[in-house]
Amino acid sequence: MLPAHPLSGKRVVLGVTGGIAAYKAAVLLRELQKIGADVRCVMTPSALRFLGRDTMSALTRQPVPSDVFPDDADISESWSRHIHWAEWADLVLIAPCTANTLAKITHGHSDNMVTSLVLAARCPVFLCPTMDGGMYEAPATRMNRELAKELGFQLIEPDHGYLASGLEDTGRLPEPHEIISRLAGFPGFTDYKPLLGKKVTVTAGPTREYADAVRFISNPSSGKMGVAMAVAARDLGAEVTLIHGKLSVPVPAGVSAVPIISAGDLFEAVKAQHEVTDIFIMAAAVSDFRPKQRALHKVKKEGAAMNIELEPTPDSLKWLGENRLDHQILIGFAMETENLIPSATEKRKKKKADYIVANSISGDASGFETDENEVHLIGPLGEPASYKGSKEDVAFSVLRAVFGNEVERG
Ligand code: CTP
Repeated sequence: MLPAHPLSGKRVVLGVTGGIAAYKAAVLLRELQKIGADVRCVMTPSALRFLGRDTMSALTRQPVPSDVFPDDADISESWSRHIHWAEWADLVLIAPCTANTLAKITHGHSDNMVTSLVLAARCPVFLCPTMDGGMYEAPATRMNRELAKELGFQLIEPDHGYLASGLEDTGRLPEPHEIISRLAGFPGFTDYKPLLGKKVTVTAGPTREYADAVRFISNPSSGKMGVAMAVAARDLGAEVTLIHGKLSVPVPAGVSAVPIISAGDLFEAVKAQHEVTDIFIMAAAVSDFRPKQRALHKVKKEGAAMNIELEPTPDSLKWLGENRLDHQILIGFAMETENLIPSATEKRKKKKADYIVANSISGDASGFETDENEVHLIGPLGEPASYKGSKEDVAFSVLRAVFGNEVERG
């Protein structure tokens, strides 16, 4: 049986503050519940303008207080709720945490249920600073972020991307799975770190093989599965290097990134990691062919040849299989449109990998550019095991399945 999620059974108080990202807190709450956390919710009065109290109350089956002294409740019962809930919690998570609440928390204010509960908490408190425009980099906010770290709060940095104002900047609330994986990776919450002390190299995303200055052969890989594998390896204790083509998601925190463009670059980067890597996870969607010639400038229509001569690219996984060091473990991926299991089983043997994670790209809900995936883990022993769900969950399941058991090479 797989070990439980590190947050399973943990008591979480989710504090929601008044930014537009508050609407995402309901999904975050559901995701926390799905992995077995017992969640209660508190909201600031301004959060109530973005998200209904009743929504969070129905989901948690608990009251959702916003004031320490509510107008409409029996004070004798509720006035010390900020203390009791703070004592009850194993962790407090403020998501989103506005610039205003960050400023209040770092200066000891206790003027509403969220700030009072944070002040009373003795457990780890995680803050997700989430704001728009120049607010995140404003000198005052920057100072408060530094102060928050000094005071022992755990900061989960925001993503860069499109903000509600229409600007593109840093300040987006990270996706629920990324927040949860940061919580799960907190050393205090789990001693299940089977990859502690291990160096893991993950490849992710597509390669580009240029024919001239602007045209290239590629594929629609988003890199999400490889990034999810990197996050899972990081959270299971590994030191992770991510060799990646163009990604549609950010490089996760706590992971060293090596950007590459072509299959040739990927091969060089993999070889550079060879001596120092214990586990390779090869999730990149590598182009098998590249144009034999690359024109320096954009080729003009007039007089252009109608054929592009191709040559094979180096196969990094195959090279690793043939040059493997004794202690190394190789996990490859196989994208297939037909004969999924037989083809992937054959690929495992041909490339001398320990495991192949096989996924079909023929369905709508798995493969390129999706958030969900269904994979089959083909190893040296027994029948393939199947995992289905978000790419993050699938990545965790695969690594736990592999590193919960001794690897025997076949
Ligand atoms: N791979 C690699 N270098 C390549 C091609 C593939 O390292 N030049 C790795 C992929 O990252 C993956 C595995 O090999 O882990 C299988 O990739 P896939 O594209 O499914 O298989 P191919 O070997 O390219 O075989 P085919 O395209 O014929 O199915």
